[in-house]
Amino acid sequence: MEDSWLSYGARRHLTCPHLFSRSPWASTVAKAALAQGKRLNVVFPMIEFMEPLGIALIGYGTVGSGVARLLLDHPERLAARAGRRLELRHVVVRDLNKPREPDVAPALLTSDLRQVIDDPGVHVAVEVVGGIDWARRAVLDLLAAGKHVVTANKALLATHGAEIFDAGRKHGRAIAFEASVGGGIPIINALCQGLAANQILSLQGILNGTCNFILTGMIELGRSYRDVLAEAQSKGYAEADPTMDVDGTDSAHKLAILVQIAFGIALPLSAIQRRGIADIDQLDIRFARELGYTIKLLAEAWLLQENPPLTPSPSPRGSGEEMQLALHVSPVMLRQSAPLALVRDAYNALFVVGDAVGNTLYYGRGAGQMPTASAVVADLIDMAVGRAQQTFQSLRLWSGNHGPVVLRDPSTMRSRFYLRMMVEDRPGVMADITRILANHRISISSVIQHEALDHGDEEIEIVPLIIMTHTVTTGSFNDALAEIDALKSVRPPSVYYPVGD
Ligand SMILES: NC(=O)c1ccc[n+]([C@@H]2O[C@H](COP(=O)([O-])OP(=O)(O)OC[C@H]3O[C@@H](n4cnc5c(N)ncnc54)[C@H](OP(=O)(O)O)[C@@H]3O)[C@@H](O)[C@H]2O)c1
Repeated sequence: MEDSWLSYGARRHLTCPHLFSRSPWASTVAKAALAQGKRLNVVFPMIEFMEPLGIALIGYGTVGSGVARLLLDHPERLAARAGRRLELRHVVVRDLNKPREPDVAPALLTSDLRQVIDDPGVHVAVEVVGGIDWARRAVLDLLAAGKHVVTANKALLATHGAEIFDAGRKHGRAIAFEASVGGGIPIINALCQGLAANQILSLQGILNGTCNFILTGMIELGRSYRDVLAEAQSKGYAEADPTMDVDGTDSAHKLAILVQIAFGIALPLSAIQRRGIADIDQLDIRFARELGYTIKLLAEAWLLQENPPLTPSPSPRGSGEEMQLALHVSPVMLRQSAPLALVRDAYNALFVVGDAVGNTLYYGRGAGQMPTASAVVADLIDMAVGRAQQTFQSLRLWSGNHGPVVLRDPSTMRSRFYLRMMVEDRPGVMADITRILANHRISISSVIQHEALDHGDEEIEIVPLIIMTHTVTTGSFNDALAEIDALKSVRPPSVYYPVGD
């Protein structure tokens, strides 16, 4: 490199690459060149001359402290990528006396959001507080004060996305939220930018690491739900109150965000049918294995173009181009060889199909301190270079439903089903069940019946009877199930899962 410097120096015009501009050697060469009457063209290190991006961390828990760690440990790397320094100016927390790791200079630490709002040197506020009500108020106040916002809060966006994005547009400020879905997996970026040429046809995701960790322990080690949940809590994967993870709500929040980006449709959470994993029984895990399947909690959305839609079309382009969106969060039986079936432990993955690109798969850590911080800091760099602002403006997310997509009536969704009934082990029971299925035009693809289980005091032995159906509408399946569970020979409730092939 020095040679190339000298060869530049030998010319009349000397260009000083910014790499060298701070070195004493570079300034010696520059002075010598000037002394010889040569003209000096200096490329200044712009980073040094740019105003730093002023950042406030609102929240300094798992994610906030991870963001601080990246800012503190790699200032040069981040500055080079952002084109300016990233300067942490405030850290807002609830409890000022808590020990902090990494340590926070007392001058930065505050419990008063006002300090951020009133500081003109703060350009971006990072909301990593969590929860809904306080975070909503804080984000609205920050936007009104002219701060851009980066958030990891999927519950907030899924619940108040429209209000928050409207406020962003009204105040000319951007909102970036890569960390809100899939932790460290850059799926928001992929959908907003990398796949922008596509009509997304389907999304299928393992979006909750806690559930995937629990299911992996149950499936691979035969452990009980409670046992693996306790381990997930001790490892910090699951909250003290894990309800929102295990009942599918967290996955539904993330699906609502993805659906907004991929299909331009803003959904209330109530529009996403969801089931969790708390009731998954070892019996079904064993039968799934016997059939060549495994069970995963999936968040799924896919476009269809058959049968009447649930709601009238809001499409300005007319019903000719109307597409229907089906979606749910549910445990699904997947073939053991399917890509998503191979995703283990606390990992997340998304299988996205676009009309031009075909199948794409995204995989990585869906939560945790540093993966989530990685996504937050990527958003900060995007803010620093202006990419986030452009993306925010061009996408017009949560600006009312746009595009020709309407929700499909869930009862018209078609699937294969796994059905486990606990039935009396006596003649005629199978005939009753198959008659009900036939009445609902449900054909059977396979049946398993094992020998009787010890069922306590019951005089008649009770055995599990497993039926895999061919493709059927959810409505017909549910109707048949209600009739089957009403049979005297069946011990309800029967267990069923959709089968994803
Ligand atoms: N953890 C993950 O792996 C992960 C992954 C993806 C997305 N997220 C999302 O990231 C967000 C933050 O999660 P987290 O796990 O980092 O949460 P956390 O560990 O519970 O940290 C929350 C932070 O917010 C502060 N805080 C809470 N209420 C406050 C208030 N009223 N005023 C000021 N500060 C307040 C807390 O202050 P104190 O420290 O004083 O209590 C704490 O520093 C959530 O939206 C979550 O869904 C988390």
